[in-house]
Amino acid sequence: MAFEYVADLKDLKAKQKLRVTVDNKPVLLTYYRDSVYAMSDRCPHMKASLFEGRFDEGIVTCKKHGAQVDVETGKIIQKAKLWIMKMPTKEAQTYVVKVEEDKIFVLL
Ligand code: FES
Repeated sequence: MAFEYVADLKDLKAKQKLRVTVDNKPVLLTYYRDSVYAMSDRCPHMKASLFEGRFDEGIVTCKKHGAQVDVETGKIIQKAKLWIMKMPTKEAQTYVVKVEEDKIFVLL
């Protein structure tokens, strides 16, 4: 497997998050504290798009059941909730990123 070009850094900086596809897999790119992060765009709870959720202060919140994921580590900050019940939620799959000459590359 090799790094694959996915986006220009200026576009990610402007939008703070982008949804790209690598090897037919949806990947969420985020820009936080001058760094680029990549993770699966499938929520670890029930696979909703994390891109469609809220991204704030390095945390993405799934719009479906509110799971919160740290974009730097993929760790769950808050489990998914159905009514008042917290649901088991695995960590998110993260990917290695490199930026060269303002181009973003991801390795799955
Ligand atoms: S699918 Fe994301 S919290 Fe349930």
